Amino acid sequence: MIMERLDKYLSSRTSYSRKDIKELAKKGKITVSGTIVKDTSVHIKDGDAVAVDGKTVEADRYIYIMLHKPKGVVSASQSPGDVTVIDLLPDSMRRDGLFPAGRLDKDTTGFVLITDDGDFAHRILSPKNHVTKTYEVTLRDDAKECYKKAFEDGIDLSDGTHCLSAKIEFGADPRKVTVYLREGRYHQVKRMFATLGNHVEELHRTAIGGLTLDPDLKESEARFLTKPEIQSIESLSE
Ligand code: URA
Repeated sequence: MIMERLDKYLSSRTSYSRKDIKELAKKGKITVSGTIVKDTSVHIKDGDAVAVDGKTVEADRYIYIMLHKPKGVVSASQSPGDVTVIDLLPDSMRRDGLFPAGRLDKDTTGFVLITDDGDFAHRILSPKNHVTKTYEVTLRDDAKECYKKAFEDGIDLSDGTHCLSAKIEFGADPRKVTVYLREGRYHQVKRMFATLGNHVEELHRTAIGGLTLDPDLKESEARFLTKPEIQSIESLSE
């Protein structure tokens, strides 16, 4: 049976801080299965109904957020001196334990998934599970036909790392390509094109698995994912 401290339970599912929770408890505003609880260090168990001010706090364990990352923001939970993807979230979306599931470089834009579900993050990031990440890439020089085979064979980076087989698609603009990767090595897209003698000028992630960045989300905006959207992330694996 899962047991969880009451203050941790509440701070991870509401926007109340631990301090707020202590105050609310002192005032008799917190109940567990109908009984007022003033000591927030008590452990609650599965099935206990927790309420603040008479409102039930749903036991939904984890949350999943889509963020449209702008340039200049760091994909980390904390980074002194920088603005992080977590800093961009409004208070109503914050809870303890949130982190970006996979990093984009500071100058990369696009879809960042933020969650507190470590197992889910592991599943979508593990190369074994082949969850595709899609990137729109703007190159310095025109893309060459030979890139297709290089991507399919798996590119060897300058440090000797062998990348998994990947896919590249050409668009109408010869400097713009779409790349599909199923692993996420450090600076991977930039290093792949450097190996091919080209250079990435702009990089934008448009999709994770079967879920595409919501075109209604402006840069820096975020929204919760629905259950079907969460499932669709894992539905597109190659
Ligand atoms: N590859 C990169 O080089 N940078 C990113 O941000 C993501 C993938």
